[in-house]
Amino acid sequence: MCGIVGYVGSKPTVDVLLEGLRKLEYRGYDSSGIACVSLSKKDEVFRHRAVGKISELSSSLEQIQIPTDLSAGIGHTRWATHGGPSVDNAHPHISRQGRIAVVHNGIIENEKILRNQLIAEGVVFTSETDTEVLAHLIEKELTLIESSLVDGQGELDDKFHLREAVLSVLHQVNGAWGIAVIDSHFPDRIIGAKNGSPLVLGLKENSYTLASDATALAGLYENVIYLEDGDLVDLSSSGFDIVNLSHHIQFRQAEALEADAEEVAKNGYDHFMIKEIMEQGDTLENTLRGRLLIEEGTTKLSGLEENMQELRKVNRLLIIACGTSYYAGLVGENIIEDLAGIPVEVAIASEFRYSNPIITPETMVVIISQSGETADTLAAMQEAKRRGASVLGIVNTVGSTIARGSDAGVYLHAGPEIGVASTKAFTSQVAVLSMMGILLGRMRRVSNVHGRELVLGLSQIPNMVRDILSQSDVIRQYAHEFCDKQHMFYLGRNLLYAVALEGALKMKEISYMYAEAYPTGELKHGPIALIEEGTPVVFLLPVEPVLREKACSNLREIQARGAKVLLIGGPEGMGAELNVEGHIPLPEVENVLSPIIYTIPLQLLSYEAAIMRDCSVDQPRNLAKSVTVE
Ligand code: M6R
Repeated sequence: MCGIVGYVGSKPTVDVLLEGLRKLEYRGYDSSGIACVSLSKKDEVFRHRAVGKISELSSSLEQIQIPTDLSAGIGHTRWATHGGPSVDNAHPHISRQGRIAVVHNGIIENEKILRNQLIAEGVVFTSETDTEVLAHLIEKELTLIESSLVDGQGELDDKFHLREAVLSVLHQVNGAWGIAVIDSHFPDRIIGAKNGSPLVLGLKENSYTLASDATALAGLYENVIYLEDGDLVDLSSSGFDIVNLSHHIQFRQAEALEADAEEVAKNGYDHFMIKEIMEQGDTLENTLRGRLLIEEGTTKLSGLEENMQELRKVNRLLIIACGTSYYAGLVGENIIEDLAGIPVEVAIASEFRYSNPIITPETMVVIISQSGETADTLAAMQEAKRRGASVLGIVNTVGSTIARGSDAGVYLHAGPEIGVASTKAFTSQVAVLSMMGILLGRMRRVSNVHGRELVLGLSQIPNMVRDILSQSDVIRQYAHEFCDKQHMFYLGRNLLYAVALEGALKMKEISYMYAEAYPTGELKHGPIALIEEGTPVVFLLPVEPVLREKACSNLREIQARGAKVLLIGGPEGMGAELNVEGHIPLPEVENVLSPIIYTIPLQLLSYEAAIMRDCSVDQPRNLAKSVTVE
């Protein structure tokens, strides 16, 4: 949550900052702002802020006189935590004298104490944010450093003042931060620091950009450095130092930046979400590439190769994740238990730390995260490691904190996901979990023949997905027919119940329609009371004959009470046979391979419903792409 950016170099600073913020906007869009050092104004930084999206900031910048001599600059796009979305609470925050400006992603946990101390010293706060304490504290430390030098007691070189002041403040605060700081006295300098919130440095000759993630650097830099917790980077257009909190120089290896500019553009689509839905044939192919061994009837996940011996001993899997990644975990639970016969538990990351979890030496802990930055998931990973687990990360974002912190990893290779609603990451997560299920199954009870059928079946999923996507017009029409009420149900059994949960989440988060998922057979134990004439029900028809038969009985129960049913799955003609109001036929595949293809119509349905209801598809209210607060 929240995106920060900082730039030193020869390009027009405001343009670079706005461009960076646009790419980071998916991290939060309650308000945004920039601050830059002006060469002619030594005593205070130039700052401009606006409530709402980056477009509000850029259009309001057009209404004012921007100084022409701006140098180093920082910017922020906010997801509100301390204090509501307002101009006063928008970052950057500046110090009492106006000399220091700070942008921050994270939380200062001891903010209250520090704020009260500063108030007692006469500081007047202008915002409700925790970040403002940083600006005041840094200015206070700078003043102390500089006055001690005037008194002849210190011998610090001028250019290190800001670095020393920031280091001193970082020793006083607890919590998580990715920060960027400028000082009106130093036109060509930015200090960045990281602890718990991500920060990446893009570097090329005489041009450096700090950003919350590499997406903002795509197309601009070929090489980046992922800062580590406890790092402080002292940046000018002629170079940089990285030090730790004890002032010691740290060496960090630059890495090639994988995301390219095209991947983070809409490429002609109206929204990132629909672009990401439509590219799933390709993203799934990328996830599966080189990992399917059709002849051997198994799969190869290089992140697991070194641990094949341990994998044989694993007798329990513990999957931990949030939101859509959690639902992918539930799908994985069904697949792995079915194929490998190993008990799988799926934990919600935000609950995990507070549940006294049991981790035995034979438990394999799997962390799933698209962003690799989700605070709850990261904290759960740390807790699992503290309890002795070695952790496998299934992550999309290359170089993210979870990817770097796990003991072994499998990347999704789905490319950057920008739309707040996770789509292509979910199907790739399910693809990875399916490959894990086959791998673990082949080590235990899946025969070579069955293994080959499964691997072959999995290899055909991308083309099936392309076929379903080509029918998006039919699904659009159903959105009009079924999504005109205030609430709706999603019903599924077994692993399709997990898919139903994901479908309902998609509908809730982007169309603001109250959508609830239930296991089909559970409805009669209470929620069926809510079914009345015309209640929309998205009904996922199981592929297994026995389950399908049971589900058909459940279908008749809700039809008898007036439900308006959109049937998903089953062959052409099944809808008429079951007398439902809408039907999206799907290819008949083996049960464990069905979740991905059932997911596609649900994603399209929620997208079309959001368009129909005039909702902000890529930036739904109250949400942000990476939830980096607990
Ligand atoms: O980046 P992560 O996979 O760790 O994110 C977890 C959830 O915050 C995320 O899946 C969220 O539920 C999405 N907005 C759902 O579309």
